[in-house]
Amino acid sequence: MAEPPVNVSTLRKMKAEGEPIACLTAYDASYAALVDAASTDVVLVGDSLGMVVQGHDTTVPVTVDDIVYHTKAVARGLRHAFLIADMPFMSYTSPDQALDNAVRLMQEGGAMMIKLEGGADQVEIVEHLARHDIPVCAHLGLKPQSVHKIGGFRVQGREPDQAKEMVVAAKQLQDAGADIVLLECVPNEVGDATTKALDVPVIGIGAGPHVDGQILVLYDVLDITQGRTPRFVKNFQQGHDSPLAALVAYVKAVKDGSYPKPEHCFS
Ligand code: KIV
Repeated sequence: MAEPPVNVSTLRKMKAEGEPIACLTAYDASYAALVDAASTDVVLVGDSLGMVVQGHDTTVPVTVDDIVYHTKAVARGLRHAFLIADMPFMSYTSPDQALDNAVRLMQEGGAMMIKLEGGADQVEIVEHLARHDIPVCAHLGLKPQSVHKIGGFRVQGREPDQAKEMVVAAKQLQDAGADIVLLECVPNEVGDATTKALDVPVIGIGAGPHVDGQILVLYDVLDITQGRTPRFVKNFQQGHDSPLAALVAYVKAVKDGSYPKPEHCFS
């Protein structure tokens, strides 16, 4: 029997019931259909497409048109998973600009939620979007769009003050109307504290095992990415004879808690 579509209430219920949320990125209809067939709960059209699809070194060159194009394609491949689309670099510098671009991702692309990077500095934007019933995922920790400002892709929240600030910012964003918080590349302790402090689901990528769900970049999971990958990446293609089998193994590992292991975490 077909699984019912996932929505915001499903995700909140999963958090309340302690069922891990399995998430992946996707960028086209064929892979989206595979990710969906593997019973992934959430699919993100990430601006990581700038790196893994377009071949850039960072996510900075990605445009709203790029995200709309890929979100449309992914939406056609999904039946079950909840679809989130990324707001690219400089597409949410004011509340009105953020609203215009979020509406494009939802109306033209078919996204059910938008994701934006930022901490307490984004509270006004999140409030404005939430006031217009735009579901929001707030991305904290390592913010790849800020790579040139922070000087590289590195673990965030290692200092106690920085860690505390991140948990406070996550709470402020939730209170402003964010429906999901995504934490990238932070010590386990920050993942744990944020998850305990929030009512909304916390999805981690390199945020340890104590969050409500995990997300990875699809091309990393399927061992398509060449060269060095971050510590939190696990190649699920190894030992499986098809991309679908690898994706099923990823979802199972998130659900039964066997991913992430200590070697994928920062503490
Ligand atoms: O762009 C992206 O794919 C992301 C994930 C790494 C979470 O933001």
